[in-house]
Amino acid sequence: MQKKEVILTGDRPTGRLHLGHYVGSLANRVMLQDTCQQFVLIADVQALTDNFENPQKVHDNVFEVMCDYLAVGIDPAKTTVFLQSYISAIPELTLYYMNLVTVARLARNPTVKAEIQQKGMEESLPVGFFAYPINQAADITAFKATLVPVGNDQLPMIEQTNEIVRSFNRIYKTDILVEAKAVISKTPRLSGLDGQNKMSKSLDNALFLSDSADIIAKKVKTMFTDPEHLRVDDPGKIEGNTVFEYLDAFALDAQKVQELKDHYQKGGLGDMVVKKYLQEVLIEKMKPFYERRKMYYQDKQQVFDILKAGTEKAAEVAHATLQEVKNAMHLNLL
Ligand code: TRP
Repeated sequence: MQKKEVILTGDRPTGRLHLGHYVGSLANRVMLQDTCQQFVLIADVQALTDNFENPQKVHDNVFEVMCDYLAVGIDPAKTTVFLQSYISAIPELTLYYMNLVTVARLARNPTVKAEIQQKGMEESLPVGFFAYPINQAADITAFKATLVPVGNDQLPMIEQTNEIVRSFNRIYKTDILVEAKAVISKTPRLSGLDGQNKMSKSLDNALFLSDSADIIAKKVKTMFTDPEHLRVDDPGKIEGNTVFEYLDAFALDAQKVQELKDHYQKGGLGDMVVKKYLQEVLIEKMKPFYERRKMYYQDKQQVFDILKAGTEKAAEVAHATLQEVKNAMHLNLL
């Protein structure tokens, strides 16, 4: 059976992936690979746009991210995982698309704006970073992706992509480029262990997919609960209590969670008891990831063979699109 939707997603390889990534996108990819033709891009070129002085970090994290993907069950027989820097059609498409995008339009991109501010790049903004939405449009269109599952922050990238698609098809009187639909995840972003921010590597509040049972248990002990729940007998709050947020997200026994909530709110249930249960729940969920990851981590050759095979397949697809694009632009004289 021909799978009709083509999905393209990707990550910048700048660190190991964590449970927030799992909830936000990886779990979805594992599910979608059965029904859709799925490409997953390790965006090392895009990662360099804000890490160009740190190429070793990007280099090293390609392997880490690959291990994370394989650990959660992204299956290379169903999903094409590939490395962006080996797909030369992408920068070439980017260059052609640059003619179709104004500087003013890029400057309005809210995601890029926010990133520039966060990273303090206002004074010396590299063109490469400023223009990365065009590069991302090339990622998406090279594979004629119809669906792009992303977080909210990536919506402006899809809009930019579709504007390029429409301009290109109109100007060059063709229909070869395909508009993509953003699929926004309905699951809210997972809080970090600190309960104050979303889970993120840089805030040091993450549970990594590579964490062992011991580390998970230790981290759960430090988790934010209800700061006013000082004595076991005091009534405790569920709202904003990260331990209960995680139980809602990961515990299979919803009835038990409800009983714990009732007891906690009434008073008489200590944080340690709830955390103990969360430790069990998380370890049950994450232990298979840890075991599988360890296996791949020890077999670098196999991991890179998988990435190489995916990259070769992706290069063919992207190259075919590039040929069509060049034909439409009359770059076919010889
Ligand atoms: N910009 C995405 C991120 O920062 C990574 C990415 C690159 C991507 N190319 C993509 C995501 C294409 C979806 C589609 O996480």
